Amino acid sequence: MAIFDKQKTAGQGTVLPRHIAIIMDGNGRWAQKRGLPRTAGHAAGAETFRRIAAYCRDLGVEYLTVYAFSTENWKRSQEEVSAIMGLLKKYLEEAIEKMRRENVRIRVLGDTSVLSPELRALIARVEAIDETLTTRTQANLCVNYGGRDEIVRAVRAWASDPEREELSEEVLSRYLYTAGMPDPDLVIRPSGEERISNFLLWQSAYSEFYFTDTLWPDFTEADMDAAIEAYQKRDRRYGGVKLSKKP
Ligand code: FPP
Repeated sequence: MAIFDKQKTAGQGTVLPRHIAIIMDGNGRWAQKRGLPRTAGHAAGAETFRRIAAYCRDLGVEYLTVYAFSTENWKRSQEEVSAIMGLLKKYLEEAIEKMRRENVRIRVLGDTSVLSPELRALIARVEAIDETLTTRTQANLCVNYGGRDEIVRAVRAWASDPEREELSEEVLSRYLYTAGMPDPDLVIRPSGEERISNFLLWQSAYSEFYFTDTLWPDFTEADMDAAIEAYQKRDRRYGGVKLSKKP
């Protein structure tokens, strides 16, 4: 029902976001509340990602970008870092099996050069399959990603490009991990925290933000519906003024 409702409104000026980005926050607290290790929270969070990614695909959302591991997350215990890397490995292995059948592209955004050779090999295999797919549905996993780091890298890549064009916002965008993708329309942060935490700093310049107290492992399709409905009520002006309606 929710799917039908949201698509029906598309022709009436309240469109489905093309690109949704999520800071998957609250895994640790979810586990703590249950007396479980933090790693159990991440495992539950990875399951929530699978469910919500399938839901977004069914709704017709073109891009879903999630913050899986930031450039700052290396400060966590080795056990926790290994657990998150293990969940990513499992997910990529599954993706290699399923992505042709499900026709969903998967990209890993971030500095992958420091990841384990095993994880890098899986990413390369996923990217090779990706090139053969024609779908518009894409899941982006941000791994060893930092928004400031991304901008610095983009500037460096531009500066060392012998064929660089004169610098502009549009030109610099081509050197970001998200080159060729639309900016996120909607950025969701669950768990009650209300900050950007170095996520998609450039790309979220005009995004709508949605915050909820729900912890990420508890985030449901109904929470996604609520976020999309809130987004559909927003008045996006991109720095301009609202066009007044004729009486
Ligand atoms: C933030 O919650 C979450 C992370 C730093 C890791 C998110 C990673 C996953 C959900 C697994 C990735 C795998 C796939 C397949 C997407 P937190 O630990 O900071 O929570 P807290 O604020 O409650 O401590």
